[in-house]
Amino acid sequence: MSSLLQNIDKERLPRHIAIIMDGNGRWAKEQGQDRLYGHYHGVESVRDIVEGCAELNIGYLTLYAFSTENWDRPEYEVVGLMELLVSTIRKEVESLHKNNIKLHVIGDLNMLPEYARQELKEALDITKDNTGLNLVMALSYSGRWELLNAVKSIANEVKANRLAVEEIDQTVLQRYLATSDFPDPELMIRTSGEYRISNFLLYQLAYAELYFTQVRWPDFRKENLYEAILDYQNRERRFGKTSDQLA
Ligand code: IPE
Ligand code: IPE
Ligand code: MG
Repeated sequence: MSSLLQNIDKERLPRHIAIIMDGNGRWAKEQGQDRLYGHYHGVESVRDIVEGCAELNIGYLTLYAFSTENWDRPEYEVVGLMELLVSTIRKEVESLHKNNIKLHVIGDLNMLPEYARQELKEALDITKDNTGLNLVMALSYSGRWELLNAVKSIANEVKANRLAVEEIDQTVLQRYLATSDFPDPELMIRTSGEYRISNFLLYQLAYAELYFTQVRWPDFRKENLYEAILDYQNRERRFGKTSDQLA
């Protein structure tokens, strides 16, 4: 067993880990390859990290795979990413199912091409009764899209007299988020040396521990995940209180 893994305190694992998988394009460029080559290799990291989280009994893993803003990339890259998404899901769904992993998707799926929506729907259906790791794919997702949607839905409920303004609290708001079924992430990892949130889980990350690494996503493996978890376990999460209060 790896020494990093041995040092992880299994009693104090994050329940939910969220990852901004970044750096595929630069990784490819560095090898004189096309950006799509980086995305293809990024799939191997996804496989490894999903397996690593399942082995650790992590409850939820959210992967930022495609943002609302990513639709503005050159068409060939967008099309390449969609095809990669569909072929990966087709290839992996059996293995996800065998490993008791339940797939979820958050994001504006109306934006996706019909063939991608169909493939996703099948995968969601196949894995819907699984009770192991919850794998949440953020696809065509952005935090502002999500918050706007929540505001509109709540406004409609109020207008239809199904909800009173006085009843709106954090619990109610949470019910209207795309992540209503999931706890907030305790740990957010971003690869490739960028230090920003890029419209990811804006509301849910309020108290997440943030971990940034220079490692590009296609190079990110279980050992890197263990490093992030160990770093997380060395933090003091104060939630506004003082250190003394925690003791
Ligand atoms: C992350 O890698 C994958 C997606 C955003 C789909 P990038 O494609 O952003 O790679 P860089 O940041 O340009 O290196
Ligand atoms: C964020 O990465 C989105 C995903 C990883 C899917 P980007 O590479 O799109 O973010 P920016 O544009 O550098 O902030
Ligand atoms: Mg990027």
